[in-house]
Amino acid sequence: MTRVLLIIGGGIAAYKSLELIRRLRERGASVRTVLTRAAEKFVTPLSAGALSNDRVFTDLFDLDDEREIGHIRLARDTDLIVVAPATADLLSKMATGQASDLATAVLLATDKPVLAAPAMNPRMWDHPATRRNVQQLQSDGIHLIGPMTGEMAERGEGGVGRMAEATEIADAVFGLLAGVVPSAKGPLSGRHVLVTSGPTHEPIDPVRYIANRSSGKQGHAIAAAAAALGARVTLVSGPVTIADPKGVDVVKVETAAQMLTAVETALPADIAVFAAAVADWRVTSAADQKIKKAKGTVAPVLSLAENPDILGAIAARGSRRPALVIGFAAETENVVAHAQKKRKEKGADWIVANDVSPGTGTFGGDRTTVHLVTGEDTASWPPQSKEAVGRQLMEQAAAWLASEQVDV
Ligand code: CTP
Repeated sequence: MTRVLLIIGGGIAAYKSLELIRRLRERGASVRTVLTRAAEKFVTPLSAGALSNDRVFTDLFDLDDEREIGHIRLARDTDLIVVAPATADLLSKMATGQASDLATAVLLATDKPVLAAPAMNPRMWDHPATRRNVQQLQSDGIHLIGPMTGEMAERGEGGVGRMAEATEIADAVFGLLAGVVPSAKGPLSGRHVLVTSGPTHEPIDPVRYIANRSSGKQGHAIAAAAAALGARVTLVSGPVTIADPKGVDVVKVETAAQMLTAVETALPADIAVFAAAVADWRVTSAADQKIKKAKGTVAPVLSLAENPDILGAIAARGSRRPALVIGFAAETENVVAHAQKKRKEKGADWIVANDVSPGTGTFGGDRTTVHLVTGEDTASWPPQSKEAVGRQLMEQAAAWLASEQVDV
């Protein structure tokens, strides 16, 4: 018989863990439960005991427990440990290897697979401290399921932070025991996210081209963030020197025309983010051979033609238009006003307005200051890393899809 040790943390989602006990037992597992002190504020040992039909363990220093079973045996006499809800506090204690109560002592003593189902307020999930802890736990080999997108217990708050459903956690438990590492099941699972990134190169002749200073850092960070939230991601990238993000399908292009074709080919998508700095013009007829300079001849004059507007073309599509089309605007003054205008002109749903005025270091840099223009609303985000912007943008997009109930 499959043995599962369920550690219930102290969060409002703890009631769902009672249902998890049922779901696991229905599928033939025996379930032994540990409640943290905080968990006892949300569910009682009595209800957990009744549902699991076993003793419930609550305190590291209960001498009887230690004599009879002890945290070491609890940690070993199981096939897998599930932590649900994994609160911000529990994740932090796990990440730093604390053993200050029974739950954390068991987690430190175990050599069995551990699956954690995080649940917390979206701001707490987004906090750099939680990001660090989650990264640490993942590199320690802890498996995560969720958190998902949805309404929070706090009224009016939505975002990423809701605990995965009991059946989803049970599926992940049995999957893990069968050797299937849970894929990054997250709020964008089942979604396709399309991202353009980097500059384009518009050839003048076989060795020369028109380019711009875009590094691709922001677009690549968005693609990585979408993948981390469980999406299938297609990244259409112009020429960049940074590495491909992990777990993302990368289509490499050079020109705006190629980028448009690659984007059209990748559709349909649920979300499309146009972060590329597409050259506005191309050389009307690029020379087949290298243009030579000869003594006495005048310098060549380049004749330019306007490139297709990729964002505009996709936003204007009648069929297969992504549910959420997000564009970027690089501005040096009147940032929000220009972005609002651009949003309307291009038919985008949201515009991420970048302040690229001299001194901000946005172009090519690691940090950025953006304003997110969604309809009439604008949110000004503090200066932060491009990774943080990518994560926040994709979490907000996931929350939007969920609230609009756009079907997966
Ligand atoms: N864009 C595009 N195809 C183009 C040009 C731009 O898809 N041929 C997209 C960019 O990826 C970005 C947005 O449109 O999402 C920015 O548009 P653009 O009009 O080029 O704005 P800026 O770069 O801000 O420049 P400008 O102020 O000159 O309009």
